Amino acid sequence: MMDVRRWLVVGGDGLIGKRLVQEAQSADRIVLGSSRRNINGQPYVDLNTGDTDAALATAPEVVILCAAVTSIQKCRDEPEMSTRINVDQTVRLAAQFLQQGAFVIFLSSNTVFNGNVERPDEYAPLEPVTEYGAQKAKAEVALQALPGAEKRLAIVRLSKVIAPSEGLAVNFLRHFQAHQSCRAFDDLRMAPVSLRYVVDGLLALAFRRCPGVFHLSGRDELSYAEFARALARRVGVPSTLVETLSSQDAGVEVLFRPRFPALGMTRTHEVLGLAPEFLEQVIDTLFAT
Ligand SMILES: NC(=O)c1ccc[n+]([C@@H]2O[C@H](COP(=O)([O-])OP(=O)(O)OC[C@H]3O[C@@H](n4cnc5c(N)ncnc54)[C@H](OP(=O)(O)O)[C@@H]3O)[C@@H](O)[C@H]2O)c1
Repeated sequence: MMDVRRWLVVGGDGLIGKRLVQEAQSADRIVLGSSRRNINGQPYVDLNTGDTDAALATAPEVVILCAAVTSIQKCRDEPEMSTRINVDQTVRLAAQFLQQGAFVIFLSSNTVFNGNVERPDEYAPLEPVTEYGAQKAKAEVALQALPGAEKRLAIVRLSKVIAPSEGLAVNFLRHFQAHQSCRAFDDLRMAPVSLRYVVDGLLALAFRRCPGVFHLSGRDELSYAEFARALARRVGVPSTLVETLSSQDAGVEVLFRPRFPALGMTRTHEVLGLAPEFLEQVIDTLFAT
């Protein structure tokens, strides 16, 4: 009988987790995505209550930890609850998977840096300036100290992920398709990276099981308004449909305002052969069938 291996994505309902579960399925591998929704066939995991038995019972060979409180505002407003989920329970669960012999991949973020250093690479010192970034940094340090981590733990930091199904780009494109104007910040910068590129990078890592820190980042750094104008050009509508405004004028509180949102990928390039993704490639993935 064929030996069927199991992979587990913790946080299988999220933007990245959902796509990972779809893409990683194959004939000789079962990929499960955990949920908090009691869905048949999906192990129930709630990191707030620490209910993780169903996930541990799957005894996966690879675990990708995507579950987190991802709102920077929410982490600031509810530090105790978010620390429990993003740090304490995540580290506890990873420790148990490592003990079972699994290879564990933890998703982290460019917010572990302060945004003032150009293209910090995988070796750069951590200097978070938000509660969310501090939680990610704390989790990274605790995870790396776990028994087994040296050989079976990877940390993957991401820049801003752009998906064809939901979020920022979809919102801009909806306006353009209806020939309506959209509003975009000119004082907030990002380094967009496509969901496609991130999922492919994570899968490459899961197959090769290389431990250590990796970065998956967009190469180009631009404002949200510049990104919207690039999308407008791509779909052939006038870029005047993009109304620019500052986050301050919009009354939006921005807690992480990096001058340099892109990550350097020195080690990731050496180990996985991946280079930062160009803006053009990011936009192409939005229209790929
Ligand atoms: N997307 C980006 O641009 C980006 C950039 C940098 C880093 N990252 C990191 O990548 C990872 C995945 O991000 P994402 O964009 O896919 O996030 P997301 O769409 O917000 O999904 C987060 C996932 O975590 C789950 N979750 C939240 N609280 C939980 C809890 N108490 N117990 C169990 N599961 C819980 C959510 O489940 P529910 O659906 O039930 O809430 C959801 O499945 C995160 O660690 C994030 O920090 C993302």
